[in-house]
Parts: sequence; C-alpha cells; structure tokens
Amino acid sequence: MKYLVTGGLGFIGSHFIEEILQDDATEKVLNIDVGSYAANKNFRPCDTRYSCLLEDIGNYDALSRLPMEYDVVVNFASHSHVDNSIEAPDAFLNNNINSFFNFLKICREGQLASKTGKFIHISTDEVFGDVEDSIYDYFIEKSDLRPSSPYSASKASQEMFIHTARKMFGFKANILRLCNNYGPRQFEEKFIPVIIKSCLSNQKIPVYGDGQQKREWIFVKDAVCRIKKVALSSEDYDDYCIGSNDLKTNLELIEAINNLTGNGPRDNVEFVTDRVGHDRVYKMDSRKFNFQYSLVHPRRSFTALTDGLKDTLEYFEKSLPHSAIAQGNRP
Ligand SMILES: NC(=O)c1ccc[n+]([C@@H]2O[C@H](COP(=O)([O-])OP(=O)(O)OC[C@H]3O[C@@H](n4cnc5c(N)ncnc54)[C@H](O)[C@@H]3O)[C@@H](O)[C@H]2O)c1
Repeated sequence: MKYLVTGGLGFIGSHFIEEILQDDATEKVLNIDVGSYAANKNFRPCDTRYSCLLEDIGNYDALSRLPMEYDVVVNFASHSHVDNSIEAPDAFLNNNINSFFNFLKICREGQLASKTGKFIHISTDEVFGDVEDSIYDYFIEKSDLRPSSPYSASKASQEMFIHTARKMFGFKANILRLCNNYGPRQFEEKFIPVIIKSCLSNQKIPVYGDGQQKREWIFVKDAVCRIKKVALSSEDYDDYCIGSNDLKTNLELIEAINNLTGNGPRDNVEFVTDRVGHDRVYKMDSRKFNFQYSLVHPRRSFTALTDGLKDTLEYFEKSLPHSAIAQGNRP
C-alpha cells in the first residue's frame, strides 16, 4: 500500500502514520504538511518508507509536479481550532476551503488518470451543529449539516466539494466524521491539554459557560485504527460517523482528570463567558461503521476513558517544560 497523508505532522495524522508504519504491507508513506503552528516539527518516524514534504496542499503548481501514484490519500490537513476560527474566520476560508479545493482538484486528476486510488476525507461531528437543534437525539450519516462556527462551516464546505466531485466525475471518496479525539501530542490549545496543563501547574481551568456542553470522546489510537480499516477497504466509498458513544460533559471530563492528578473534583474550575454560538451536544450513531467493519462488540474495541487519559497525562508530564509544572499538588 502506498499512502499519501496530508496534515501528518498534526495530532491525528501523526498517530495515523505511526499506525500504518506498523504494517509490513505499507510500502510508502508521503506526508504533506505545511508545518503550521499546530504541526509537531519533531515528528520524524525512523523508517525508510516515510518521507515528509513541507508544503501547503493548496499549492497546485508544486503538488501537480509530484507523481500522484498512491493507493489511498488520507486528508487530515485543516486548521482545526474553533476559537481561532471565531477570531479569524478568513484564515479558515483560505486554508480549509481554497487550499483544500486545489488539493481535491489534484487528487481528482490523479484518479482520472487511474494513478491515484481513493480519497479519505477526515471530517467532524461539528458539521451537524447542535443535537439540541435537531429533531433526533443523535446524528447519522444522512443528517442535515447545520454548522455553528467558521471552522465547522469550512469542514462542511469541504464535504460539499467532495459530493460535487463524486457527482460530476465519479470521484471515489469516503467522508469520515470523527467525534472529539484526545491523546498524546494533541496541540496545547485544545480542551484536554488545557485541563492537563492547568492541573499540572496549579492553575485554574477556564470553562466556557456552565460547563455542561456534552461531547463524545475517542482515544486517538482507536480513531486511527478505524480510519485504517477504511483505507484498507479499497472498494468502499461510503461515508461514516465514527464516534465512541462515550459522552461526557466538560465538567465530567475535568473531574476525571482531577481524579488522576490528585485535585478535588472541581476546586480548580473557573467559569468564563461562553463561546459565541457554542453547541451544547454532539452525538452520533456509529452503527453503520460498526456493522460494515464487523465490530460486533464495539465497546470492547475502545480504550476506556480513564486509561486513555492516563496515557495522555503521562505524555504531557514528560513533554511540558519542567518550569510549567508546579510542585506540591501531585498525588
Ligand atoms: N482533533 C479532533 O478532535 C478532531 C475531531 C474531528 C475531526 N478532526 C479533523 O481531523 C483533522 C486533523 O485534526 P487534528 O486535531 O490532528 O489537527 P491539528 O491542528 O493537530 O493538525 C492539522 C495539521 O494539518 C496541517 N495543515 C493545515 N493546513 C494545511 C495545509 N493547507 N497544507 C498542509 N498541511 C496543513 C497543520 O500544519 C497540522 O500539522 C482535521 O481535518 C480536523 O478537522 C479533528
């Protein structure tokens, strides 16, 4: 298998690359990443099958010079932080829509020339908007898209261009909508790293609104195993919701991490003004994926939240600068 992975210096993409490099059947992995602030520049798997090109996927001229001969393209590259998209929406339009569109064109041309296989697009449950605004209490693959932030609107737009390419050109693609991922190497601006960093440095944890927003959480290594299943299934061009069914409010998540770090359940919480347009609940029905990929007991194939959080905590304890970790609050 020859893989082209985009955004592979980022959180989920880098775990995906580690996962596929474990397979003997993987012949080659090219990672194209622009090396944004969120990229982990130290991610350099020691494996001759791996190479990395520091480039914007929107650079049509540079990328159209590459031999586009891959069995599968897995597209993780995107700006991914909702708060940044509220602060500076234009950057999300430029990157997640314009750059993405150029890359899609290149991949479509590669498929038309029968050189490049299918395209797996990594999307998010956020494209559906808030479950509380829906008539159902969960989302399925065919639910309407009602994004609530410039980030999720840009992700929904990416999906729309894929639908268009399918209809116009028979483009072979999967759209995988993932729930919230967590784990080692997640960039520090995201919620779980913020909680951990605050706990380790004896600082208050900023919590939007009343902290009752509910999300499904999946350990990143479980998510990338699922993405790999779709990558290896060359004749499947369907879309899937990939959730964990492990729903937690933000306050419950804080409690779980406080338990692991020896803090009182909610002593270190500081409520701050809610994010504008903040969705209350994301929840997906993942049965279609579980059925297609024969996960008869899907629960058993998930890392328990406490175990995943322990791994994540261990990573941040090692990787955060020592000065950032205050002493005296450890169990
Ligand atoms: N993290 C989550 O919980 C989550 C959940 C659902 C879906 N997703 C989606 O999964 C994907 C990966 O998320 P993540 O958390 O790993 O993000 P991340 O921000 O950690 O990593 C994104 C990577 O993409 C790269 N990138 C961005 N724009 C690029 C461009 N134009 N050209 C080349 N590289 C570019 C960045 O440099 C970075 O290394 C994103 O598409 C995101 O929307 C993430």
